[in-house]
Amino acid sequence: MTDERQWNSNITFILAMIGSAVGLGNIWRFPNVLYSHGGGSFMIPYLVSLFLLGISFVLVEYAVGFRFKTSLSKILFKVHNKLEPVAWFVLTVVFLITTYYVCVVGWDLIYVILSFTKAWGSNPDTFFTNTVLQSNDSISGIFTIVPSVLAAIIAIWFTTWQIIKRDLNAGIGRVSEILLPLLCIIVVVIVIYSLTLPGASIGYSQLLTPDWSALTDLNVWLAAFGQIVFSLSLGMAIALTYASYLPEGSKLVDNALIVAFSNSGFEVFNSIGIFSILGFMTLTSGIPFNELVTEGTGLAFVVFPQVFNIMGSTSNIIAPMFFLCILFAGITSIIALLEGVCYSISDKFNFSRKKTATIVCIFGTLISSIFATGAGSMILGVFDAFLNNTALLFAVLLECIIFGWIYNFDKLIETLNKHSRIKVGKIWKAVIKYILPVCIFGLWIQGVLSTLS
Ligand code: PHE
Repeated sequence: MTDERQWNSNITFILAMIGSAVGLGNIWRFPNVLYSHGGGSFMIPYLVSLFLLGISFVLVEYAVGFRFKTSLSKILFKVHNKLEPVAWFVLTVVFLITTYYVCVVGWDLIYVILSFTKAWGSNPDTFFTNTVLQSNDSISGIFTIVPSVLAAIIAIWFTTWQIIKRDLNAGIGRVSEILLPLLCIIVVVIVIYSLTLPGASIGYSQLLTPDWSALTDLNVWLAAFGQIVFSLSLGMAIALTYASYLPEGSKLVDNALIVAFSNSGFEVFNSIGIFSILGFMTLTSGIPFNELVTEGTGLAFVVFPQVFNIMGSTSNIIAPMFFLCILFAGITSIIALLEGVCYSISDKFNFSRKKTATIVCIFGTLISSIFATGAGSMILGVFDAFLNNTALLFAVLLECIIFGWIYNFDKLIETLNKHSRIKVGKIWKAVIKYILPVCIFGLWIQGVLSTLS
């Protein structure tokens, strides 16, 4: 295999890692999770989950990737020759998640274009359901194609292919170096602008108003942990793959802390903007704040277009910036999701990077096309509930057991401490072996129950 497998610099690695973590979860999931789980006081379970569980698991992925310097399927085979199927299970879940993530980013691409003229009209709600989704709540809708969504999905897959078929630094590295700084600039502009809006304080004060009783609610702790798993993209073989491309001498623990803090800093900072804009909406339209704080598509493609409709001429700049922000965050996550999948496939079948990327992107386009039909949003809901709430958590649980119990964990401690300024020790080992599996198990049960109900 002659493909290049080493980052040009540590900064490129950090940018690619932050790009992989910062995604839809930070922009449209976090504000809602925070609001509905105690507002300001949610930061306590959130920070505990970040330090105790999130960073701990990222460190496992870094140590494993860096130590083995190969793909997930080969690593698991080396740990135990019967474990390779676990890798293919994890990678299939990751690939399927990517197929609908692409669709959501595709919807966003449509909104980038619409936002210049606010072509969603005076009723963004019906526009999204009737024109973009053309949703038909029965499976028979699968026979109606929505051309604009199909075109957007193809455009996103084509862009992804253009990036991942190139060498590591020319593709993922370069794109992360460009998109991440742009993303940061856009978010800073949006947040600063949002704070100048009348009514902003109605929104951001929610972040500062704690509901201490929420801390005694187990669901709040599970929600905090769930957000960390989703937001840091844990268990998806991303950190593991990216860390395997680090040169000898890299400071793994230092890198993990930088990435984790940047990711959380991004979502907290971004929430100030989202909340302030919703505060403005409450003041101007009279709609109660709690009705506005939705998550996901409802927030981005319904509530925000409504806000832009009443924002005046500044929205001609802010609206495209908002949708571009989601687009950039989405693309850097998609390429990361696919890198681990492609690495294992090219390793297993001895395919070049270009050939693997082409095969994966063609298959991906075909599967994502299902979401461009009238039954698309319904199937997407089923995919999301099953993959995100259950399969992904199960994958994280398996990885915890494999690296905490089957593999010799002390070797991972040795790998991490070799060059890092900050060292890890026994507490970390206890977290990975006992605390993390119990927490993931709790979250998993909750996910299974909510999928079944
Ligand atoms: N962490 C990213 C996000 O917040 C990427 C991700 C994609 C996470 C898909 C989970 C599932 O969007």
